[in-house]
Amino acid sequence: RRKIIIDTDPGQDDAAAIMLAFASLDELEVLGLSAVAGNVPLELTSRNVRIVCELCGRGDALVYEGARQPLSRQLVTAEHVHGRTGLDGAELPEPTMTVQPKHAADFIVETIMREPTGTVTLCTLGALTNVALALQKEPAIAGRVQELVMMGGGFFEGGNITPAAEFNIYVDPDAAATVFASGMPIVMMPLDVTHQLLTRKDRVAKIAALGTRPAQVLVDWLAFFERFDEEKYGSDGGPLHDPTVIAYLLKPELFSGRHCNVEIETQSELTVGMTVVDWWRVSGRQPNAMVMRHVDADGFFDLLAERVGRL
Ligand code: BDR
Ligand code: CA
Repeated sequence: RRKIIIDTDPGQDDAAAIMLAFASLDELEVLGLSAVAGNVPLELTSRNVRIVCELCGRGDALVYEGARQPLSRQLVTAEHVHGRTGLDGAELPEPTMTVQPKHAADFIVETIMREPTGTVTLCTLGALTNVALALQKEPAIAGRVQELVMMGGGFFEGGNITPAAEFNIYVDPDAAATVFASGMPIVMMPLDVTHQLLTRKDRVAKIAALGTRPAQVLVDWLAFFERFDEEKYGSDGGPLHDPTVIAYLLKPELFSGRHCNVEIETQSELTVGMTVVDWWRVSGRQPNAMVMRHVDADGFFDLLAERVGRL
């Protein structure tokens, strides 16, 4: 079983990713989950992580709170997509499980330094602030993680919060720059992939047909989440970003891309948070990330429905 840490800012699509992980316990051991500020402030992302754990029957999971603010910028949030709570769309009880009395960055450092080298995978579904703080505390974690698999960035597809930047990178570009410069093996799931994963009605219907409570809650969350793209772009559903990270661990063959260099713009007002992907290897800079570009969308949604049915 692959040992994973999920760093997240739920977010309905983060919730879907966490559900996919908890539904895949033959393959994945969730060592802990860490909340970061992003879609909504930390109080709410922490609450939302715990709501999802309890929905999955995993009130025993270890949940840590991390950064309230990006490394050096003001927090930007996304209530326009995810609603006031970050998890609008379904009525769920307030969580009863508590958070662990340790900062997420310390949890990340201690876990990676404790476990054998190359056995812990970091799964990041939000801004990279917690991972950057962990790297500042203990740079040696970069050489010990198995992989960091992230949802973030966009290249041919452009940005979704500015013309140049994807939200997770935009929220904390300094943290992203720290991570991409760290030498960690990185797998990146950009908008180029996630925009191929629209929550079309026929796909969501397969989840609804499962008939379980977790499946119905997920369907309700997705109905709220997708309205933003449907209203703004007239698309058939919304892009299911974050579960790509977990799906990659379960079925890497669903994805293809290229190992290339990625640098993060942190200065320019116009393009801050841009992931500058050297797809054509014109810069001479060392490749530092496996950048995905294509996904088998039907295979992805089949996997999601099959796994959520196990919860
Ligand atoms: C990313 O931003 C968040 O709103 C989503 O949860 C996802 O992680 C997509 O740009
Ligand atoms: Ca997210």
